[in-house]
Amino acid sequence: MNEHSLDLVIIGGGPAGYIAAIRAAQLGLKTALVDKRPSLGGTCLNIGCIPSKALLTSSDHWHFIQHQAASHGIHADDLRFDLSAMLARKDKVVRTLSGGVDLLIKKNGIARYRGTARVTAPGIVDVDVENEQPVTLRADRILLATGSVPVELPQAPFNGGTIVSSTEALSFTEVPRQLAVIGAGAIGLEMASIWRRLGAEVTVIEFLPRIAPGCDADIAIGLQRALEKQGIRFHLEASVTSVDSVDGRPVVRADCKGQPIAVDADRVLVAVGRRPYADGLFPHDNSPETDKRGRFIIDAHYQTTLAGIFAVGDLVQGPMLAHKAEEEGVACVERMAGKAGHVNYDVIPGIVYTNPEAASVGITEEQAGELGMKIRTGRFPYAANGRALAGGDTTGFVKLIACAATDRLLGAHILSPHASELIAEIVTLMEYRGSAEDLARIIHGHPTLSEATREAALAVDGRAIHITRS
Ligand code: NAI
Repeated sequence: MNEHSLDLVIIGGGPAGYIAAIRAAQLGLKTALVDKRPSLGGTCLNIGCIPSKALLTSSDHWHFIQHQAASHGIHADDLRFDLSAMLARKDKVVRTLSGGVDLLIKKNGIARYRGTARVTAPGIVDVDVENEQPVTLRADRILLATGSVPVELPQAPFNGGTIVSSTEALSFTEVPRQLAVIGAGAIGLEMASIWRRLGAEVTVIEFLPRIAPGCDADIAIGLQRALEKQGIRFHLEASVTSVDSVDGRPVVRADCKGQPIAVDADRVLVAVGRRPYADGLFPHDNSPETDKRGRFIIDAHYQTTLAGIFAVGDLVQGPMLAHKAEEEGVACVERMAGKAGHVNYDVIPGIVYTNPEAASVGITEEQAGELGMKIRTGRFPYAANGRALAGGDTTGFVKLIACAATDRLLGAHILSPHASELIAEIVTLMEYRGSAEDLARIIHGHPTLSEATREAALAVDGRAIHITRS
């Protein structure tokens, strides 16, 4: 039996785990990283954020050529796309990035084990290494970062073919003629966008009265309108009752506002959320305590209810976002090393990478109402922004939320192309407890989309320049 003693064993090589491993190595901890996937990077890099962005970009180019190029005076004949080349490019992006992560792990002197890990006793991790002898790793500290997996609907269980999760939907080898998407969260909307742009008829079935849960209501409505213009159909307040097979094709049946509906499809994507994934990690019934949603209960140091066992990322409470997981991984190991690692949970941006993109940080207007907070809002449309007009896309707006008493920025919600990049400025300002007035006094390059952000800050005080007060 191979045995190794370390300072820290990290289980899970996604954004939480591999970044924590690098930070731990920087801090001088003798660290091992265990993951059963052949390539590091977890869901995000292998089957999530990165491949979806590759396909979103490719399909967006196709959409632009088909629908917008002519307005720029550009005409291209005999247009076609090659889906296999698109998928190959996506896979290459993933390979390049995961190769980079491998190199970083190696250069930082981190011991990498490829295999399935189990915590068999406090301080002991057994790893079934593929095609090799099992390995036992001993460490006073074990960090769990095994992420999450898609939630399965009992009435529409995954079958890898007609009823699938986002993993398969990132690799359809043919554009479905009809795609039904259950769930209008980030995954549902991003996947719906990719396949709609490539020609599928897409119908999204959502349980709630609006799309993009957690987004500001104005943003959700604006995004829905924009996606409907692109041809995506929505059934809201619809609860899926079954997915039947009729002549070998799935039919999604749902109750929509009291009426039965049926949506024909070649493929059904179920995107109704993800659940923490710690299956089989504790084979001897010795698991730390979890909450009702299966998330490990942790203290301020990310320590679970078992001493020496820590958990971060999708395994614990908070939004299931790669950047939140990364920060937790770093904060957790910094605390292990006696440093003051910290995550500011009030300032975590969230982005839906549709076109337009929906990006937000901080509270929504509705949340402010629920919390009884007195706020002022400022809004500015891209229709009044020179760069947006010059670029040919004026969809969307910026909405800022500031404290009525102090003017401190409490939230920002942006619907626009490039909103994912534009939100970073507000994240920075909020991190430093900036006010709408601070933002309004910062010089922004002209002409840029970011000027709309500044104008929205001016609008908080009723003094936006390029729009009149109604
Ligand atoms: P989600 O929780 O964001 O959205 C799921 C949607 O499905 C909700 O709107 C919910 O009301 C709906 N739903 C649930 N049960 C349903 C039913 N039976 N019938 C119809 N609708 C139903 O989950 P999603 O999109 O699967 O994403 C999972 C996690 O991954 C989320 O935490 C998300 O934030 C994260 N993620 C983030 C991305 C990003 O930051 N761009 C991209 C992809 C995922």
